[in-house]
Amino acid sequence: MSNKTVLDLQKMKAGNQRIAMVTAYDATMARLVDQGGADMVLVGDSLGMVVQGHSDTLQVTLDHMVYHGQCVARGLEAAHLTVDLPFMSYQVSPEQALVSAGRLVQEGRAQSVKLEGGVRSAPAVRRIVEAGIPVVGHVGLTPQSVNAFGGFRVQGRGDAGAEKLLADALAIQEAGAFCIVLEMVPAELAAEVTAALDIITIGIGAGVECDGQVLVCNDLLGFDTSFKPRFVKRFAELEAPIVSAVSEYVGEVRSGTFPASEHAFHRRKGPSKVKRLYGGRSAK
Ligand code: KIV
Repeated sequence: MSNKTVLDLQKMKAGNQRIAMVTAYDATMARLVDQGGADMVLVGDSLGMVVQGHSDTLQVTLDHMVYHGQCVARGLEAAHLTVDLPFMSYQVSPEQALVSAGRLVQEGRAQSVKLEGGVRSAPAVRRIVEAGIPVVGHVGLTPQSVNAFGGFRVQGRGDAGAEKLLADALAIQEAGAFCIVLEMVPAELAAEVTAALDIITIGIGAGVECDGQVLVCNDLLGFDTSFKPRFVKRFAELEAPIVSAVSEYVGEVRSGTFPASEHAFHRRKGPSKVKRLYGGRSAK
């Protein structure tokens, strides 16, 4: 099997087939979401929060993204691999954006790269696309601008915000992106933007009318029950079974019931060399 291409994804949109995107940050999770049938796997800079434990994505570097791209690529057989350009790896100039995107493809094995921002990021998108690298845009709540937004808030609620969001999405399409993420925008606005664009829209907290959806794997699987924004649906509740499995393991280690005989390696039949040399005596 080979990984889905941009063309495969565009055919899905043309055939009104919805696209399922999931994040992954390592080879094991990549293998599992690939087997689950995800069409696109995103190595999101959300790894700053869910893997590195930060409260935002701003500490993530290009080296981190390259490393996690490599890990995820090893676990994928069928899904398309998109890797995020992290904060300050593309904002300086279109040239900087191209060099960073090139690293994600060449070293991080990305098939496409994602970057945040609308009108202001359009020159970077254009430069990357001109070099033959497919780009996914990202508008609405763009977490790398969390300090400018004053928190993780819904975007585009009023008329002015809605107009700006549509203008941003059109600018990214015009610059050559093949796909765009709409994050935390009213469902009605996401539907209008999807109708206005020819490129694929992927929603997160943006209602059902987008061409596809994305969720962070840790949210989808319920790894952290203390985190439950409105747009997350947990398709499993894995926090409790994981904690309980580890606590059972800890109990068995302490009581000496693990490892049992079947988990240990045993000598072949006959006396060992140690026994032959020293008999029953200590080898000291
Ligand atoms: O970093 C990320 O995981 C993302 C998705 C939530 C869209 O950008």
